[in-house]
Amino acid sequence: NLKDNTIIIVLGASGDLAKKKTFPALFALFRQGFLPRDAKIVGYARTKMEKDDFEGRATSYIKGAAEDKEIANAVESFKLTLSYVAGSYEDGAAFDGLTKHLDEIEAKYQSKERNRIFYLALPPSVFIPVAKNIKEHCYNSKGGVNRIIIEKPFGKDLDSARELLNTVKQYWTEDETFRIDHYLGKEMVKNLLVLRFANVALGAAWDKNSISNVQITFKEPFGTEGRGGYFDEFGIIRDVLQNHLLQVLSVLTMERPVSFSAEDIRDEKVKVLRCIPPIERSDTLLGQYVAANGKPGYLDDTTVPPQSVCPTFAATTLWIHNPRWEGVPFVLKAGKALNESKVEVRIQFKEVTQGIFKDIARNELVIRIQPNEAVYLKLNSKTPGLHTRAIPTEMDLTYKRRFLETKIPEAYEALILDALRGDHSNFVRHDELDVAWKIFTPILHWIDGQSGPRPHPVQYPYGSRGPKELADFMAKYGYKRSDDAYFWPVTNLA
Ligand code: BG6
Repeated sequence: NLKDNTIIIVLGASGDLAKKKTFPALFALFRQGFLPRDAKIVGYARTKMEKDDFEGRATSYIKGAAEDKEIANAVESFKLTLSYVAGSYEDGAAFDGLTKHLDEIEAKYQSKERNRIFYLALPPSVFIPVAKNIKEHCYNSKGGVNRIIIEKPFGKDLDSARELLNTVKQYWTEDETFRIDHYLGKEMVKNLLVLRFANVALGAAWDKNSISNVQITFKEPFGTEGRGGYFDEFGIIRDVLQNHLLQVLSVLTMERPVSFSAEDIRDEKVKVLRCIPPIERSDTLLGQYVAANGKPGYLDDTTVPPQSVCPTFAATTLWIHNPRWEGVPFVLKAGKALNESKVEVRIQFKEVTQGIFKDIARNELVIRIQPNEAVYLKLNSKTPGLHTRAIPTEMDLTYKRRFLETKIPEAYEALILDALRGDHSNFVRHDELDVAWKIFTPILHWIDGQSGPRPHPVQYPYGSRGPKELADFMAKYGYKRSDDAYFWPVTNLA
């Protein structure tokens, strides 16, 4: 339940994540009446700022205020919930200053209950001192809850992740900790549970007997563009595959949980992830974009070290050794600077028994996570008319057409609301992260050059579909591209 007497403290309040994601999400919740009554939001960061300045920054990414009076008014009311404290991240005394401010707000409360939600929108370098300092200086033990919300990067490999997580654990219990993977807050990722377990028809075909291969794909049409310094240290696998795509994979493949409770769901996710061995080098394709069509290559980004071999594209195939999935390849692929913006799951079914049909297309179930959420099934159907010929068609659930009035919430809105309610279902448990790192650490060490010379990624042009080697890579795992003559007029209206 929503708690009254709540303060949300955003640490790193002057940074990009806070400005672009955290504050707009808090505003959306505020406007829809989802924040606790009289909730206050306190920003904390190193930069010294006047109140106006802070309010301006915190509301700079809120859309629609210029055109819509109601939104503009809501922004003004939202500003009344905001205040700001400047201070260092390492110095405990600075956090006493923050506590003093929190105490002043709480002094006005009618009841004894006080809830403090700490949201760390911070770079990894200050993660640990802040987790420690807020526990030692800002923790409220007078009744009510304390929660900490943290976000990747959680380390760089298994050992560093364990060290980081265990250090945070010295100060914050699992119950108090909410580890965000924002993909778990996306509407379509949340829908996977319902699609899978509320439909007998889908459930019956959900295994190695019916499915040939599965692709989980992330495409972005822009490069690092000034964010290269951070990116180069991590690479596309740590940035997207090891967390976002693996989370999607685990929800897609886990067994049916006993209930929708957070622990039941996460138990099943961990179980299936533990059936996946570390990725083999031979199941990997790495790429890096080069200049094309007037757009700069990765190495042209001045924040990237010269001659970096960091992959900006990766395709990796994972295998799940359990009775449901043995032998089905799961291809996780992600790339920057590609031809489009898209995240989707594509489940390709096996060939229909040969004999009565020749060259018939395979069924495919596509779950489009973004943009333009949709679920569609490619289905063979008789061509209407006086002859009997099968053509590929589609059964289509496009959200925009089916749910006309619904606004799909941003992932961060959904997740912050869950954290306020104390629901961990869509947050990552400690042991999930551990097993995720086990799957990816050997391949990452190879890419980082810790087990020999660093592999060189193949090149692909900015704005392309990815490395030209990708088609053969996909074919190796049994993926068959459907006939190029296939045309779906309705999709193009979307
Ligand atoms: C972040 C990555 O976690 O996810 C970014 O660090 C990436 O590189 C982003 O752009 C993608 O998120 P979304 O919600 O835009 O798909």
